[in-house]
Amino acid sequence: MKNLKLNLIAAACENMGIGYKGDLPWFLKNELKHFSRTTKKISDPSKKNVVIMGRLTYFGVPESKRPLPERINIVLTTNPDKYQFPSEVIVAKSMNEALERLQEPELADKIENVWIVGGNTVYKEAMESSLCHRIYLTRVMATFECDAFFPNLTEDFKRVPNDEDITEEIQEENGIKYQYQTYEKIH
Ligand SMILES: NC(=O)c1ccc[n+]([C@@H]2O[C@H](COP(=O)([O-])OP(=O)(O)OC[C@H]3O[C@@H](n4cnc5c(N)ncnc54)[C@H](OP(=O)(O)O)[C@@H]3O)[C@@H](O)[C@H]2O)c1
Repeated sequence: MKNLKLNLIAAACENMGIGYKGDLPWFLKNELKHFSRTTKKISDPSKKNVVIMGRLTYFGVPESKRPLPERINIVLTTNPDKYQFPSEVIVAKSMNEALERLQEPELADKIENVWIVGGNTVYKEAMESSLCHRIYLTRVMATFECDAFFPNLTEDFKRVPNDEDITEEIQEENGIKYQYQTYEKIH
């Protein structure tokens, strides 16, 4: 890992909701594949990407699918002793502790990109950080009942037009339309 940069990836509906009762409010199979593909994508096959998430997001992933495969999983919790994590999961008590761990030489050399995958406070902290680079945001064009929300997208973030890594064509699954959008933080 050369320069530590944080990229966020999220899907939010029209009221900026991201979650309900510990799960996603919708089922969009191809959107989940997009998440998986994007967060796994590496150019150097000897490296892996990191995913950083809050405790509720981690335990919201079905047990058979966590830790997220082919990625180094970091879970944030202020209570690491209270929960059981497989040995390959890195547990950190703060975002700073997580970022410090990533810069330890034995890990730093094995990492390509760092993805912030939610939820609310984890996104917010990353967005406020000087290390924040981009947000890959799926705009779900419908409203769902939610109890977890994406933070306010401030004017620090500008849309990246024609991002070559994603299609901006409107997608549709199960009668739900959505669009992939990219935002970049202006420093
Ligand atoms: N649509 C999407 O893209 C998307 C993405 C991610 C999640 N989600 C959904 O969103 C919901 C979960 O998000 P959420 O916002 O409710 O919770 P969350 O951020 O996943 O988890 C919150 C918990 O994480 C820990 N935490 C967060 N920030 C921390 C920090 N800086 N330092 C130490 N610990 C920290 C705390 O755990 P302790 O209480 O143990 O200290 C906190 O209670 C679920 O419904 C999930 O399915 C959706």
